[in-house]
Amino acid sequence: MKTKNIKNFSTINQAERFAKKNIRKGTFDWLQAGAEDGFTRDKNINDLENLKILPKVLKGIRNTKISINIFGLNISSPLILAPMGHQTQFHSRGEVETAMAFNDKSRIAFFSTQGRMSLNDIRKKNKNAIIGWEIFPFGDKNWIEKEIKDAEKLKCFSICFCLDANVRSHRYQDREIIYDARKFGKRTNPISPNPKYALNYDWSFISWVKKKTSLPVILKGLISHDDIFEAVKRGVDGVWISNHGGRMFNSGISSIEVLRELSKFNKRKTKILIDGGVRKGSDIIKYLCAGADLVGIGRPPIYGLINNGNKGVKRVFEILESELVTAMKNAGFKNLAEMKKNRLKF
Ligand SMILES: Cc1cc2nc3c(=O)[nH]c(=O)nc-3n(C[C@H](O)[C@H](O)[C@H](O)COP(=O)(O)O)c2cc1C
Repeated sequence: MKTKNIKNFSTINQAERFAKKNIRKGTFDWLQAGAEDGFTRDKNINDLENLKILPKVLKGIRNTKISINIFGLNISSPLILAPMGHQTQFHSRGEVETAMAFNDKSRIAFFSTQGRMSLNDIRKKNKNAIIGWEIFPFGDKNWIEKEIKDAEKLKCFSICFCLDANVRSHRYQDREIIYDARKFGKRTNPISPNPKYALNYDWSFISWVKKKTSLPVILKGLISHDDIFEAVKRGVDGVWISNHGGRMFNSGISSIEVLRELSKFNKRKTKILIDGGVRKGSDIIKYLCAGADLVGIGRPPIYGLINNGNKGVKRVFEILESELVTAMKNAGFKNLAEMKKNRLKF
């Protein structure tokens, strides 16, 4: 079948199919891959699929509101861009291009030290974007402190740490086709000093970080409830429940499983961010009903980036937000505050 215009996708599934046609096979497989055989990546999607939402009728829902105020920011929806590295593989301007989709200041975007374009370059072209800077702890404390201070200078709204990627994982998909992401796409962001540092740090590191910045600190990659409550105890501002899209450790635990079972959590004190497997509007409702404040998306915006640069990234957000509003109207939710666990059916 001949595709008319590969840029104009109208669903996330179509964006994925177009992206597959638009880029070399090794790069597309690397984007899709999960740790080992991808079981945990698929479980994110399957567990969301198997969770049900109880619709309610006659709720007077003419005006549906999805905008929120969080971390002192007014944003158009709870949907955020999850940090993703190595983006010049997908578009020659990589993270700089992606960030252009966020320059209208209406949504939050995270970028990481594993990105190919430096934060400086991203900021230069995107003065208004609301950026969270994610640091992989791949250096000594002097290096980390400099990353924090640079992010403050470049007006990032938050400092995030990626805690679930200590070493490169085995992904059978990449191993079989012998694809090495580092060989494709340019770089302006210097490589971090040494990944081995990540293996040295313990929880005292987080208390140290909290003393180094007054920006909200978010920890990404938390799965065990013990870790989530330890993070809260250390005074972090956000816990980001994530298994890295199933790319790092094949735990078999999906993000929604973690959140579903989390009780006695004080959301007034600490915000909950989550990601993994969001491909449609109802997925977002499920995460919000289970207790999330912000919901991240990873692979879908990259499909958009591959297909149509920053316009494609923005389109992905618009599609998902429009699906969210429609699903809310059909399920009987006026606003995000009405989304509670009692509307989920396990
Ligand atoms: C290509 C790619 C690169 C990623 N790089 C990072 C990264 O630099 N830091 C990080 O915390 N997570 C990274 N992730 C994980 C995402 O932030 C996010 O947790 C995951 O993609 C969410 O799952 P989803 O792709 O099913 O939406 C990456 C994911 C992908 C697909």
